[in-house]
Amino acid sequence: KTVAVILVGGPTKGTRFRPLSLNLAKPLFPLAGQPMVHHPILACKKIPNLAHIYLVGFYEEREFALYTSALSNELKIPVRYLREEKPHGSAGGLYHFQEKLLEEDPTDILVLNCDVCCSFPLFKMLAAHRHYKGMGTILVKKVSPEVASEFGELVADPESGELLHYAEKPETFVSDFINCGVYIFTPEIFLAIQDVTLARKDRATLRRLSSFEALQSATKLVQTDFVRLDQDILSPLAGKKKLYTFETKDFWEQIKVPGMSIRCSSLYLAQYRSTLSELLAKGDGQRGPTIVGNVFVHPSAKTHPTAKIGPNVSISANARIGPGVRLISCIILDDVEVKENAIIMNSIVGWKSSIGRWARVQGGGDHKMKLGITILGEDVTVEDEVVIINSVVLSHKVLIQSVQEEIIL
Ligand code: GDD
Repeated sequence: KTVAVILVGGPTKGTRFRPLSLNLAKPLFPLAGQPMVHHPILACKKIPNLAHIYLVGFYEEREFALYTSALSNELKIPVRYLREEKPHGSAGGLYHFQEKLLEEDPTDILVLNCDVCCSFPLFKMLAAHRHYKGMGTILVKKVSPEVASEFGELVADPESGELLHYAEKPETFVSDFINCGVYIFTPEIFLAIQDVTLARKDRATLRRLSSFEALQSATKLVQTDFVRLDQDILSPLAGKKKLYTFETKDFWEQIKVPGMSIRCSSLYLAQYRSTLSELLAKGDGQRGPTIVGNVFVHPSAKTHPTAKIGPNVSISANARIGPGVRLISCIILDDVEVKENAIIMNSIVGWKSSIGRWARVQGGGDHKMKLGITILGEDVTVEDEVVIINSVVLSHKVLIQSVQEEIIL
């Protein structure tokens, strides 16, 4: 049997995702029309003998309650949210729920970061993991050397696939192979995490024995159960014939800033072509709007037949797209209204916002830059003919004048 764990983190981790994380937990933000966390979940669902999917994080229970119950019914696999009362780190979170995760006596545990966008080649990875017979297999990817330091860099044996060296976000270049944040472990991983926790407790106790450091150690003691998968587990276990790597040549991106959701939406929409083509909008001549490239339109959204939509557009529930509107590379969230002849490009338009006639909401398209795209928070009104370029607008604002490269708080 296999169980899957998706590490969803918590509200403090999502701050770079503002303003979009202000009224929705980041893992539930829609990419290609489905919550971010839905994509790894669908990949896990394809694994035979999958007993359970757990989301582990420190968001409030209620943020995930509706989603997990609806999903359990839909997928016919129990999906459960396990809440940590405080952050324990990526490995500490797993360890905290050890009993629950081992309840079904799994042979393999899939562990996936929720903020990565990839094809999740879990099936092939599981076959490799069983072949290696190690304690864990890490999904890795070759990236350009300039960006490698944003991630965990690693060196693997090209023949055996063994992880030989691991450095988390190193200051000096180690390798252009990086950790993709997707792992398969055997239950032995819990012993490795336990070793780290116990070693820390021992050190804390020793320190406490020297009285003048007592205060310091008392505060440190609290930290003994905070364990990171990368620094605290992968690094020390490299070169010990315990961890192996599996390389993916498919797409892979990390989603830390809002702009990346436009890029990742486009990757998932492109993937739908071969996996879920029924989710892609089809331009059906006279009755519907003109569709260009990959587009998702929620069934409850209304799009005028004279609108032109795409490529890379996702339109959420109950949005209304008016006559002559042009949408390119954007995410339109629930209940948005876009009025006649407005243009939206490289932008995210927040829930319940309204874009006026002949208005223009536009970004330059550099998804990793803070002002590389335009983001409108919830309930923003852009009046008729107003032009918004490369700006971030927080919720509940009315824009009566054009702005460029501004953050409107
Ligand atoms: N449950 C829980 N509890 N989840 C957590 C916690 C925690 O205390 N802390 C982080 N996470 C989740 C995050 O939500 C994310 O999905 C994942 O664990 C990793 O987050 P970080 O520990 O903040 O690391 P990172 O995203 O900066 O980098 C990691 O992932 C990269 C791939 O995306 C590292 O492992 C890098 O080496 C790797 O390249």
